[in-house]
Amino acid sequence: MNTVDHNLVPKDLDSFWMPFSAQRNFKRDPRFIVSARGMHYTDSLGNQVLDGSAGLWCVNAGHYREHINEAIAQQLSELDFAHNFSSGHPLAFDYASRLVKQFPDPLNHVFFTNSGSESVDTALKIALAYHRTRGEAGRQRLIGREKAYHGMGFGGLSISGLVKNRNPFGLLLPGTDHIRQTHGLAENTFSRGLPEQGDYLADDLQRLVELHGADAIAAVTVEPIGGAGGVHLPPQGYLQRLRDICTENGILLIFDEVITGFGRVGACSAAERFGVVPDIMTTAKGITNATVPMGAVFVSDSIFETFMGTDVAGVELTHGYTYSGHPVACAAGMATLDIYEREALFDRPKQLQEHWLDCALALKGVKNVIDIRAFALLAAVEMAPRHNEPLQRGAEAAKYCYENGVWVRNIGDSLVLSPPLIISEEEISQIFNVIGNAIEMVS
Ligand SMILES: Cc1ncc(COP(=O)(O)O)c(C=O)c1O
Repeated sequence: MNTVDHNLVPKDLDSFWMPFSAQRNFKRDPRFIVSARGMHYTDSLGNQVLDGSAGLWCVNAGHYREHINEAIAQQLSELDFAHNFSSGHPLAFDYASRLVKQFPDPLNHVFFTNSGSESVDTALKIALAYHRTRGEAGRQRLIGREKAYHGMGFGGLSISGLVKNRNPFGLLLPGTDHIRQTHGLAENTFSRGLPEQGDYLADDLQRLVELHGADAIAAVTVEPIGGAGGVHLPPQGYLQRLRDICTENGILLIFDEVITGFGRVGACSAAERFGVVPDIMTTAKGITNATVPMGAVFVSDSIFETFMGTDVAGVELTHGYTYSGHPVACAAGMATLDIYEREALFDRPKQLQEHWLDCALALKGVKNVIDIRAFALLAAVEMAPRHNEPLQRGAEAAKYCYENGVWVRNIGDSLVLSPPLIISEEEISQIFNVIGNAIEMVS
């Protein structure tokens, strides 16, 4: 049996206020991760666990990539920091110009942030300021979707659709509204890949256009595939229908690709994979393989040119962060792109998809499994809540998985998966075998 390495276990567990955690539970039975290589973490007990979540949907190229580590060290030895406020260092420009080539036309301009939440708030502010700059200052409403997760900034939270995240924080931004979620159609349960039914749910945007008036709406933000709400797939044709309604009504379409960006769905972006291009796209996470915090907002030519074409002198957009385009993050991002390209990692989810879907859908029929949603290298296995004990089944199944060598997350009673793109077919089989056993065990 493995023993705890006491040198690796902190003595004070109270000073650190943990993010998004049931920390009183954690502290009763703490678990510390101490190192990571490739597909695996090692904990302070010496256990090796397979990373079924790529960290938090972010370590797309797997852990401990020496090329990225070296690029970071090299950058620190040359230029640790220079800001980009009416100043600049060359790497931010070089990186931006390499980065935009990965995304579909006309998303040819990038604004750097430090996280997904900042990317979303930046996108919303760009949308509002864009309409104002072109003389449509009345377009102020921001539309999101039920069940969506867009980070924890006030803007992103206001258009998100997860009640537990929203409730503690009062009224949030005024003037937001939500279209209907795409999850929960009985005819779509256990779909193989994108569900066939439900593209008409996009027409709910038309309802809001009729309610508020198109000229009051600035932007609609959706995750092309919902992630942190529980992996919700867009019905076939849904995103195109949303695109069409936005175009017809002068509303900007924002894709929040913080999870789907950088290869997760078998292309650099979901926009590319699904052939539907938004006006603004938010990214973060996989951009640096999670080594250095960074986010990026991609903006269309026409939006960018609107700002650059104003006759107001000086700052075109009064927005930015001290660390926008931080040199160390840019170096990490450059090296991450090298790996994605050299190893053709964005192709992996497509190559592995059939095996992924076979393994995931093999759990149909296991007791208590009420839905399975899987696409590319994303999946959710949803269990029925236990009577009078909602969320318990998910938490217990995730614990069993960890104790049996696979780290997966539970979102409520769903187990959600998004492994590093370097995963092998054998490791995929291992994940779903352990999940199957876990679900049987916790019945
Ligand atoms: C779609 C989406 N947007 C925004 C965010 C927020 O990103 P961050 O936690 O880096 O602020 C997340 C995080 O999971 C996300 O999934």
